[in-house]
Amino acid sequence: MSKLWGGRFTKQTNHLVEEYTASINFDKALAEEDIQGSLAHVTMLGKCGILPQDDVEKIKEGLRTVLGKIREGKIEFSVSDEDIHMNIEKNLIEEIGPVGGKLHTGRSRNDQVATDMHLYLRSRVIEIVGMLHALQEALIGQAKENLDTIIPGYTHLQRAQPILFAHHLMAYVSMFQRDAERLIDSYKRINMLPLGAGALAGTTFPIDRHFVAEQLQFDRIYENSLDAVSDRDFIVEFLADASLIMMHLSRLSEELVLWSSTEFSFVELDDAFCTGSSIMPQKKNPDVPELVRGKTGRVYGNLMGLLTVLKSLPLAYNKDMQEDKEGMFDTVATLEGALQLFAPMIATMKVNKGRMREAVNHDFSNATDIADFLVGKGLPFRQAHEVIGKTVLYCIQNGKYLLDLSLDEFKQFSELFDDQIYAVLQPEAVVNARNVYGGTASVQVADAIRRSEAMLGLT
Ligand code: ARG
Repeated sequence: MSKLWGGRFTKQTNHLVEEYTASINFDKALAEEDIQGSLAHVTMLGKCGILPQDDVEKIKEGLRTVLGKIREGKIEFSVSDEDIHMNIEKNLIEEIGPVGGKLHTGRSRNDQVATDMHLYLRSRVIEIVGMLHALQEALIGQAKENLDTIIPGYTHLQRAQPILFAHHLMAYVSMFQRDAERLIDSYKRINMLPLGAGALAGTTFPIDRHFVAEQLQFDRIYENSLDAVSDRDFIVEFLADASLIMMHLSRLSEELVLWSSTEFSFVELDDAFCTGSSIMPQKKNPDVPELVRGKTGRVYGNLMGLLTVLKSLPLAYNKDMQEDKEGMFDTVATLEGALQLFAPMIATMKVNKGRMREAVNHDFSNATDIADFLVGKGLPFRQAHEVIGKTVLYCIQNGKYLLDLSLDEFKQFSELFDDQIYAVLQPEAVVNARNVYGGTASVQVADAIRRSEAMLGLT
């Protein structure tokens, strides 16, 4: 069949060129948005008297029929019609005859595709914010169950100071809160209308862009027609936001993998979220967090890919820009896939409180607190640090922990020790001593949970 743009050509397109330049195999994902945009455009053409109302009604009905057929899988898209825009137009013309050819009046595929991308990302961003909130809710749920669970807190992956497990989980709630805020902020740059920019310079028809914006519920209109058709910043921004979310998920994944190892045994992921080994019958592998950690790479790759595509592109539209789509679709699928699994995986995770407690009882993560104890007795911190360093070394050499030492043993290192030290060294006391805003004391963590719940509207 002939091309919609075939008039100027004297030869058929080489079929390899057709295949190489076509985007239909992936931009068919924009079918709903493309028709949504076209409906608003043609309504405006009628309202502005550019097309007779009769034609407008026929076109709208035709577009709805085509949409219905696409939804039912009754339309076979064709590579020779290049992309979703021309496939839909071709089908519209087949459906209602030559009047369908009036739809493209006063617009270009350049402002059309940009509009589709804005519409597409707009709904995905709302979806993703909802998924982030669901994950935060799952983390908060676990935090509430673990307000009295103490784990060793780490720096350099070495035991540092004991903290509440709830505090650790709430750190991720804060990260995902920033992620949601970033997406919500980007919404104002996504929710802008490019349509009406034409191919690059505007259009000779007396269109009403504000009317189109209103119908599509866009808050703003692009100020400059060249910018409208060549801007993909909003996609880059989305890919960057998605990269940060994946990075946060990947850090949590790494902790879940570590915590569910036999060596840690801090948590056990539900069987429904793990897989087995084809050879080793005893295995239960944390495939989901591993794969999320792994898939983070492709999301970063999609960001770098698009930044590189856009670099050095002259204004306005260039075919290179068709490369904005697969990375974006892939990122949406990868991110939504991860978030969808993470919320229930966290909610169903079993926390091995006993094992965590055992870990805390067998470490020196209360060492800072006896240094602080000596400081309280008047010793300069630097000297206290030295005294406790020696005390810890003594413990290590004698196979003991700080709480195992007798008062006489303590006194070998400093006369300032007294029997209050045993209360100070209890993990609960160590945790609750960090009673500053944002600290790990249980009253502070309980407050943090309340604040997050209020912010998420969970109370
Ligand atoms: N399939 C194209 C894309 O995704 C649509 C815009 C085509 N515009 C053009 N002037 N060839 O970028």
